[in-house]
Amino acid sequence: MASRSDDTHFGYETVPLGDKQGRVDDVFHSVARRYDLMNDLMSGGLHRAWKDALVTAVNPPKGDTPFNLLDLAGGTGDVAFRVAKAGGPGTRVTVCDINSDMLSIGAERAIEQRLDDRVSFEQGNAEELRYPDRSFDCVTIAFGIRNVPRIEHALAEAFRVLRHGGRFLCLEFSSVDVPGLDALYELYSFQVIPRIGQAVTGDREAYQYLVESIRKFPKPQAFAQMIESCGFRRVSFTPMTGGVVALHSGWRL
Ligand SMILES: C[S@@+](CC[C@H](N)C(=O)[O-])C[C@H]1O[C@@H](n2cnc3c(N)ncnc32)[C@H](O)[C@@H]1O
Repeated sequence: MASRSDDTHFGYETVPLGDKQGRVDDVFHSVARRYDLMNDLMSGGLHRAWKDALVTAVNPPKGDTPFNLLDLAGGTGDVAFRVAKAGGPGTRVTVCDINSDMLSIGAERAIEQRLDDRVSFEQGNAEELRYPDRSFDCVTIAFGIRNVPRIEHALAEAFRVLRHGGRFLCLEFSSVDVPGLDALYELYSFQVIPRIGQAVTGDREAYQYLVESIRKFPKPQAFAQMIESCGFRRVSFTPMTGGVVALHSGWRL
């Protein structure tokens, strides 16, 4: 099928732009209960180290200085809880995600961890935020941006809601360019991850989509340019684990 300008990718499939979000939502409704367990299993626990690097970059104040973070596509709150624990009593995190199942698991965990006074869960689309201009000190998005159909809209919204001097940080799968590791990673991604997904969540297709969507995501240099085009300054990225993941950064200056 010839691809049209309003087509996009859902994994390796070409789909109308308007259809992608519904397909992504089905994936996360299906895996929500087992999502965090799957992250540990698939990454051998490495996602924790990647998220810790993100939290170190966020660098929330330890005291009661007010610090408002928006965690976009924040799912079950894993990043939000880490930031809240790293910061002092002035640190508040708003988790915004489009998927009600992911959010309700996060909200339950916030109560269990006694963080519900500092971490809140709100349903919303990263492409169209309902927060006022310049209302956050920092905006993060971890493993979320590649699922958003109109990436530029989400980047523009992140820029709009950041205060001047605020930082945008995005953790996302990237491109492995270490000879030997690339072949191993390819094999692991396509032969092992969908099978673990099937065994743990009963949904092989969901994890097939997740690995394909990683391959379809722009190379880190191209993504850094997209961030810059949305107005961010001092844009940079740091590859981790041989390029499996990259931490992207930009400032609103
Ligand atoms: C791979 S999960 C990442 C969750 C969390 N950030 C983490 O690192 O554990 C991707 C999340 O993106 C969310 N998402 C997808 N499209 C979105 C959109 N347009 N706006 C907000 N969230 C979205 C999904 O619902 C899902 O919770």
